Amino acid sequence: MDKFFNHIVHGGDYNPDQWIKTKEVWDEDMRLMKLAHINSATINIFSWAMLEPQEGVYNFQWLDEIMDKLYENGIDVILATPSGARPPWMAQKYPEVLRVEENGIRNEFGVRHNHCLTSPIYRQKVREINRKLAERYKNHPALKMWHISNEYSSECHCELCQEAFRSWVKDYYNGSLDDLNERWWNGFWSHTLTDWSQISSPKSRGENHVSALKLCWKRFVTDNHISFYENEIAPLREITPTIPITTNFMRMYSGINYQKFAKHVDLIAWDNYPFWDEDDTEKIAVGTAFCHDVNRSLRGGQPFFMMESTPSNANWHPVNKLHKPNTLGLTSIQAIAHGADSVQYFQWRKSRGGHEKYHGAVVDHCGHENTRVFKEVADLGETLEKLSSVVGERCESKVAVICDWENMWATEYFCGYNNLHRDYVDECIKWYKPFWKRGIPVDVISMNDDFKKYDLVLAPFMYMINNDTEGKIKNFVENGGQFVMTYLSAVADTDDRCFFGGLPSNSLKDVFGIWCEETDSLLENSNNKATFNGKEYDVNVVCDIIHANTAKVLGTYESDFYKGEPSVTVNSCGKGKAYYAAFRNDGDFTDDFCKMLIDDMGVSSDADFAIPNGVAAKKRGDYTFIMNFSDEERTVDLAGEYENILTGEKSADKIHLPVRGYAVVKK
Ligand code: GLA
Ligand code: ZN
Repeated sequence: MDKFFNHIVHGGDYNPDQWIKTKEVWDEDMRLMKLAHINSATINIFSWAMLEPQEGVYNFQWLDEIMDKLYENGIDVILATPSGARPPWMAQKYPEVLRVEENGIRNEFGVRHNHCLTSPIYRQKVREINRKLAERYKNHPALKMWHISNEYSSECHCELCQEAFRSWVKDYYNGSLDDLNERWWNGFWSHTLTDWSQISSPKSRGENHVSALKLCWKRFVTDNHISFYENEIAPLREITPTIPITTNFMRMYSGINYQKFAKHVDLIAWDNYPFWDEDDTEKIAVGTAFCHDVNRSLRGGQPFFMMESTPSNANWHPVNKLHKPNTLGLTSIQAIAHGADSVQYFQWRKSRGGHEKYHGAVVDHCGHENTRVFKEVADLGETLEKLSSVVGERCESKVAVICDWENMWATEYFCGYNNLHRDYVDECIKWYKPFWKRGIPVDVISMNDDFKKYDLVLAPFMYMINNDTEGKIKNFVENGGQFVMTYLSAVADTDDRCFFGGLPSNSLKDVFGIWCEETDSLLENSNNKATFNGKEYDVNVVCDIIHANTAKVLGTYESDFYKGEPSVTVNSCGKGKAYYAAFRNDGDFTDDFCKMLIDDMGVSSDADFAIPNGVAAKKRGDYTFIMNFSDEERTVDLAGEYENILTGEKSADKIHLPVRGYAVVKK
């Protein structure tokens, strides 16, 4: 299902439990929420100590009251399970619920998260409190969605987790230690294991040079999060089968494979905290657009929630600048344009004390509505009400960039070539940007996703590959697709063992019509160049020295002993084409190369008008969203008549955008 609401959800984290002693604040909150066009509140996120002040002693009265109050005021509830933080009594009585760090030391009670995901006691406690919540609120008319825990993250190295890891590894290698030794290449440095009990999590004082172990650990940590989550949601699925379930992801957090976790939620939700005004605006804009597209692609294009964002500033950036006027609107409109069905904030009301008291909120410490931020939120709320028809609409893309979580790990773990720069995600963004700036919709997928629905797939630095993906690439190209791979791709298998017989691996040499003999790494001051279409580019970081077999050479190296060897190739294979860009360039090459592809293939843009520099355009449903990320005002010539949805103008042919301005138009 794509549509959980009929309107854009506008709300966010609301912590009424912090004002339990001054309940007049609750009434004031209701008045203010209506003024701000808030239609949803996410509550109970960190309320365990309030719900269960002593073991087995429950207090739901305050939650009943606030649920009723929100309902009476027309505000939907997204109800959180409280496992993101637990009461002190629990840590005191059951120390095993606390996390053990990589150094082997068990944490004391403190902060939040900070728990062991394996601990049977913690899992039981979580199940119990969740069952109570589900039983109590299953028929409450305000309950619209479950928000599970909060930003699942991190790892525990306790003995329970070590045991769980060992048994995970044993399963993964079908009980064959022999096979594991072979795949981990344990003959090297005398590492041959003779018993499963010799396996332990990677750590700086222990094993940290076996990349297959490190990959297995990340896979285990992912699976352990999923099983913890499944344990949390079991009572909810049983008691409230029709209430959708989600949990909030964090940007490109590498600790959990979101591409795997995504299959277990009903919809994706993620927390968006761009460093606007702290870095180059266009860079932030493209990085954020990319994250939205990653999240939208996690469940095959299903719309998602922007579960958190800040209305003004954060408190955990190194320097927390205030959002300049309009930033809030621009951030939110960008999310909607890329497939979000919600604009939610952290948080509704600023805490009086505690670690996050200086984090931006809709209602500041002054406590009233006469603030710049409140007015912007209220204006935006009104704007969002005009956009209800996009809810549930998918963005369709014919282009995909592969940004694969497993490759995010693998490209960090191998030792060799240029150890200073890997930058996997940034490389993916580099290949995404040429499309983004031209208004061409892009999905960002994993190597395990289906390629068939695309015309063009780009796989930057796809170092690690599995048999399936290799077969899919071959099929895709033979059937008319265009596939782009870059340097250091298809080098190693899923245990980080190198392929024999020259790169890229196995059948891909024929698909690309090349073979790669060596890979050079560039020193910072190197001046190596490559040409492409008559233009010269720097060779940065690494480059493959390849030979064209059946491929056509589109560019060559200009320097070093490989001068004259191919740097860019294309091979016709079946009905499609396979491109290989053998070098990394940190300048214009990617843009020029993608422009050639776009022109050759006639890839169509979401905008049938010229997009000025620094402006982005994205289509969703019948609407085209136009956003000014430049530092100057811009006028967009629409080359035709459009309805301006936000101003109501029926036949606009030009749109004027102030700095951080945006428009939504319909043909
Ligand atoms: C995260 C958390 C919130 C809050 C915000 C602050 O996203 O989920 O609880 O701490 O950060 O930015
Ligand atoms: Zn543990």
